[in-house]
Amino acid sequence: MLKIKKKILFCAAEAAPLAKIGGLADVVDSLPPALKKQGVEVRVIMPAHGSISLRFWRAKKLASFSVNFGKKKERVVLLSAKVEGVHYYFLQSKNYFSGAVYGENTLDKYLFFSQAVAASMPFLAFTPDIIHAHDFHTAGVLLTYLQKSDYPRPKLVLTIHNLQHQGWVSASKFKSFGFNPDIVPAAAKNKAGNWVNILAAGIMAADKITTVSPSYAQEIMTKKYGQELEKLLISRQNDLVGILNGLDVVSYNPATDKALAFNYNRINLVAGKAINKQALRSYFGLSDSPIPLLALVARLSDQKGIDLFNLNKLKTLIKKYPFQLIILGTGEKKFESLASSLAVNLPEAVRAEIAFDDVLARNLYAGSDYFLVPSRFEPCGLTQMIAMRYGSVPIVRATGGLKDTVIDGYNGFVFKNYTDSSLLSSLQRALRLYYQEPDKYQALRRAGMSADWSWQASVPRYLDLYNSL
Ligand code: GLC
Repeated sequence: MLKIKKKILFCAAEAAPLAKIGGLADVVDSLPPALKKQGVEVRVIMPAHGSISLRFWRAKKLASFSVNFGKKKERVVLLSAKVEGVHYYFLQSKNYFSGAVYGENTLDKYLFFSQAVAASMPFLAFTPDIIHAHDFHTAGVLLTYLQKSDYPRPKLVLTIHNLQHQGWVSASKFKSFGFNPDIVPAAAKNKAGNWVNILAAGIMAADKITTVSPSYAQEIMTKKYGQELEKLLISRQNDLVGILNGLDVVSYNPATDKALAFNYNRINLVAGKAINKQALRSYFGLSDSPIPLLALVARLSDQKGIDLFNLNKLKTLIKKYPFQLIILGTGEKKFESLASSLAVNLPEAVRAEIAFDDVLARNLYAGSDYFLVPSRFEPCGLTQMIAMRYGSVPIVRATGGLKDTVIDGYNGFVFKNYTDSSLLSSLQRALRLYYQEPDKYQALRRAGMSADWSWQASVPRYLDLYNSL
């Protein structure tokens, strides 16, 4: 493998274990160490969100400076810390960064963050060859380079983890944060030219664009999945690449995961999973009978397929092939209520835990027989990979990274259409297999558990990308 000496600065809103809302945090946490093993120096810069304990991470103050943006001025403190071996920079600002990762002021927060990152460059003691921004929140960092005449500038990479979130900002607000709307190409604005789409502008500004699975890279160039940016993405197709995410296989390892009721591996898989299943059932007050346990762990948004669970059809299916289902997640009220109402209407079989709970999530991977990811779209999806690593067989919709990791009849079940009947028929196939062909079911489980879900396959692709710049 080619070794490169490039220095890379990741810009991100989330990184586990510091601040995690979704899969973005896992990727920002686990990709830098995987690249580091290949000799690439990656550092991460993020806001010092209110929930991050800088003291716990022994963060040291590097500098304090003021950021001039538009007609305003704001004090920012730059700190740094080693987090699990990776060098992190945190930007602290009372007015902009002390709250939650996302919220009402998300746009202001990240427009300011982008300017603050640019202003922090002289204080980093690190001159990046490549700035690698993740999602629309930090795409603004790339836009700060549109205004600079300094040359050579670092090369710019943008990774799209989710095209649904784009960040529309009025040209006047954009200006008030120190950006010049006039140098944003028309393709990244509305027709009247008085609103800027931050993600689209980032796509135009980046030297290379990546997304998190090969299938999603293709899908986003179509009308169905392009979220109205398909034409723009087609215009950049020569610089767009889909690289599948990997997992942190040390953290997600059923043989050592401290969150589990019982650790197991491929050898004591059947007994090990049975103990975890029993623990889950007693936690949730579900009966202990020889029926399959299904799990779903997700942000409860319109992306995740919660609306595909049709109560009457589930009732009929449960009569034919009894099963239990546990749903874990938080999100939009509408989908939280949908999940809760399934539990209320099927009290013997369904539980809905409206919470964000990493320990419980890990116990669901370990204790379940099947894991559901019925997404409308899924850029990559990490949960199906974690589920397979923990010996839970995934049932997924054929989209994005789900399509790239789950093969029907080999390591899971895949359904095509985003309809309740399509989901139902795959559930029926899975349940029938569980009851009627237990050996085949075990073979699916073992296939998922034997695969390598680490970053190993994808890191060379990032190295090629960085080397090409
Ligand atoms: C977003 C996507 C998800 C992906 C994750 C990490 O959360 O919705 O599919 O796995 O980012 O890239």
